[in-house]
Amino acid sequence: MVSVTIHATTHDYDVVIGKDLRNKVTELIDSDYTSILVITDDKVETHYLNEVASSLKENFEVHTAIVPAGESSKSMRMYEKVLDRCVEARLDRQSLIIALGGGMIGDLAGYVASTYLRGVDYIQMPTTILAHDSSVGGKVAINHPNGKNLIGSFYNPTKVIYDIETIDTLPESEIRSGYGEVIKHAFLSDEGWSKTLLEVDIQRVTKEQLETDLTRGIHVKASIVEQDERETGLRKHLNLGHTLAHAIEAELGYGEITHGEAVAIGLLFMMKLSEEVVGAELPVKEFTEWLKKNNYPLSLLSTLDSEHMVERMLWDKKTVGQEINFVLLKKISDACVLNVDKKEIVKQLNLLKAEVSGE
Ligand SMILES: NC(=O)c1ccc[n+]([C@@H]2O[C@H](COP(=O)([O-])OP(=O)(O)OC[C@H]3O[C@@H](n4cnc5c(N)ncnc54)[C@H](O)[C@@H]3O)[C@@H](O)[C@H]2O)c1
Ligand SMILES: [Zn+2]
Repeated sequence: MVSVTIHATTHDYDVVIGKDLRNKVTELIDSDYTSILVITDDKVETHYLNEVASSLKENFEVHTAIVPAGESSKSMRMYEKVLDRCVEARLDRQSLIIALGGGMIGDLAGYVASTYLRGVDYIQMPTTILAHDSSVGGKVAINHPNGKNLIGSFYNPTKVIYDIETIDTLPESEIRSGYGEVIKHAFLSDEGWSKTLLEVDIQRVTKEQLETDLTRGIHVKASIVEQDERETGLRKHLNLGHTLAHAIEAELGYGEITHGEAVAIGLLFMMKLSEEVVGAELPVKEFTEWLKKNNYPLSLLSTLDSEHMVERMLWDKKTVGQEINFVLLKKISDACVLNVDKKEIVKQLNLLKAEVSGE
């Protein structure tokens, strides 16, 4: 078992990473909570809710709230339904909410916890690789029909309990998705780790490698959010690869591609753009090979219109005039934020599309 302490502005909290934690969760929780509401989705429920609830029932009164799996549950409607459960279960200020699931559940349950009774404690129990990212840093949110994460707050958990055995049941596309964010953390922080990852076949990754990668990813995220929790500067670097990723997700329609797969494609574009705009020398060839070997859906790019994607980027709140704010790499582990003209982006996107489809 590994433990990483996060120094947030409101309080310190531990991220505990290890095996079989779902069956030992009671031992990892303060005993003075009056009752617990476990919020999960209907896929994670079938795999892990019984074990988590059985462990908790040894010491606590336990309630559950189960929402349909998928991004569409991060909605105002589901937020209201879960709040209804909190009221029905008579949760009080000494109650605890547990978010058992991926980033969708973490964001929804975290937002419920941040607003119910003006805030009750909550614990994240991530069950996806991607959630190594979303469970740390205190951003919680739900979506509005007009945009992702438009309604939310900063609200840190009291603990993160990460049972890496739960990753066993993840479908292949979600493993790829999670590793999209893992490799982003590597590119932001460490050349040696990036090289190691580029040799990994993510379908055959061992528990030990997974634990190492998730722990390193959490360290990178923690060190950035500890310095800039409210995203006034450095935290922007975590958007590496995300400008194009958000445009791809929006163009395809949410749910057509996983977030991390879109990020991985966004990272490849970021590398190309960094070479062009800041003269960086990056492992573009190796990364392209890695994406192909691991079946990232690069071919989707050729179905998308470059001008449309750039229009999507221009709607983004981070845009200035006709220039788009990009996080680029001067080299691995050295990021910068630059405004890039939209014409240059269209040109580079067309080049990438031609390259990807020509091979
Ligand atoms: N708050 C943040 O800082 C932050 C950061 C990144 C992403 N996010 C948010 O995270 C969400 C994406 O997270 P995600 O990729 O984990 O998505 P998710 O929670 O929707 O999970 C993906 C799918 O995997 C299933 N699943 C989860 N765990 C499983 C398991 N162990 N076995 C089998 N199936 C399992 C889920 O039911 C779902 O169908 C988005 O809403 C995004 O906005 C938030
Ligand atoms: Zn992301």
